[in-house]
Amino acid sequence: MRIGIVGAGYVGLVTGAGLAQMGHQVTLIDIDRHKVEMINRCESPIHEEGLDSLLRSLVPDRLKANVEIEDGFGNVDAIFICVQSSSSDNEHLDLSYVMAAARDIGRALGNRRGEYPVVVVKSTVSPGSTEGVVIPLLEQSSGKRAGIDFGVMANPEFLREGTAISDFLEPDRIIIGGLDAKGEAVLEEVYRGINATVVKVDLKTAEMIKFASNAFLATKVSFINEIGNICKLLGIDAYKVAGAIGADPRISPHYLRAGIGFGGSCLPKDTKDLSIVARRLGYEPTLLRSVLEVNERQPLRLVDLAEKKLGSLRGRRAAILGLAFKPGTDDLRKAPSIQVVEELLRRGAVVVVYDPAAQIRAKAIWPDVVTYAESARQAVSQADAVFILTEWEEFKDVRLYAGKAVFDGRRVLKPSDVSGLNYDGICW
Ligand SMILES: NC(=O)c1ccc[n+]([C@@H]2O[C@H](COP(=O)([O-])OP(=O)(O)OC[C@H]3O[C@@H](n4cnc5c(N)ncnc54)[C@H](O)[C@@H]3O)[C@@H](O)[C@H]2O)c1
Repeated sequence: MRIGIVGAGYVGLVTGAGLAQMGHQVTLIDIDRHKVEMINRCESPIHEEGLDSLLRSLVPDRLKANVEIEDGFGNVDAIFICVQSSSSDNEHLDLSYVMAAARDIGRALGNRRGEYPVVVVKSTVSPGSTEGVVIPLLEQSSGKRAGIDFGVMANPEFLREGTAISDFLEPDRIIIGGLDAKGEAVLEEVYRGINATVVKVDLKTAEMIKFASNAFLATKVSFINEIGNICKLLGIDAYKVAGAIGADPRISPHYLRAGIGFGGSCLPKDTKDLSIVARRLGYEPTLLRSVLEVNERQPLRLVDLAEKKLGSLRGRRAAILGLAFKPGTDDLRKAPSIQVVEELLRRGAVVVVYDPAAQIRAKAIWPDVVTYAESARQAVSQADAVFILTEWEEFKDVRLYAGKAVFDGRRVLKPSDVSGLNYDGICW
């Protein structure tokens, strides 16, 4: 099939590469020229295992990228919207990127001569957005009618950065949201060959499934972090507790890793956006608000722990190991490391950071207030306190920490490794 994708970020690029790998002909559109040039040179603009080699096998025969929607783009079988959906800081949901993409796609649909193209909203949007915002914009800018001249579907994505390609190609479920059978048939054809549970629902339900999934995961993380905070005060290892409660299949062991909290572009944003939706409807989402509050405070607890142990941090040298919100990615969006670094700077510490993938992105946030080390060893060499903030494999080398005060925010070191170290875990 011929597939267009608008937005070639973490989701759009992986979706494009995945669909091209499945045999489709894919055109990616992104307003970021640098990204487009990199993709066409078979270089991944994001750190994601396997993506570079996948691009080398697909570009240019089955996958290409463009800055602008060209003539003929509307003649594809399906167009995926994969642009960012950003949550603003107030009570307003920001759909501006999705809206701009819908207008551009609408213009291309206006010129189409193909069959029945289907626009697929893969960006995470609040329930009702496809029907209330995307469809009217597509109709206005194309001069055509949804459900008659073109289809519109909601197909939220569940890939995880760090394992994005395999998550895309081997998902546990595919959500097909839409109202019309023709659109449904096109999406089924797009995903033919993928063995996963298919859930067919209406547009609004599909959008809610994505929000509810992420809100649940966020809740689980904040829950275990709260239990972990209480465990820490009681001198109990939260991981022993989590291991035992996770053995209950009603609970499951996943997402029970106590630490400095969740980050990334999805869990914080989607939980917050769902709260905004609820409030707009006159419902106060008490649980979701608490989930976000626990998460907001969690990174600061690690800094407090260091200050309690070492005294004032003013003038002390702090080494940060890990900036990305999780290993396997260079993504710093809402990473707890940002709060830790900012708080250490606020308390007067001298900060040196090291991350094997996210350093280039970090330089855009802190061009000159922190020092960048070239290795974990170099980062810790002069440090008074070492903060482990991402579970990169290389930080498991216990020899790095000899003679240092270590504050582990991710349970990177096992209890059996830390005897003889000056070591503290955030929840254990
Ligand atoms: N990152 C994840 O792990 C993940 C997982 C599941 C769902 N999602 C959702 O998928 C969506 C995309 O997330 P992401 O992380 O890939 O975002 P991203 O910021 O990495 O990528 C978005 C891309 O869209 C481009 N763009 C913006 N407006 C455009 C336009 N009008 N035309 C062409 N390109 C445009 C940007 O330049 C950028 O490259 C979001 O709604 C997100 O919530 C993300």
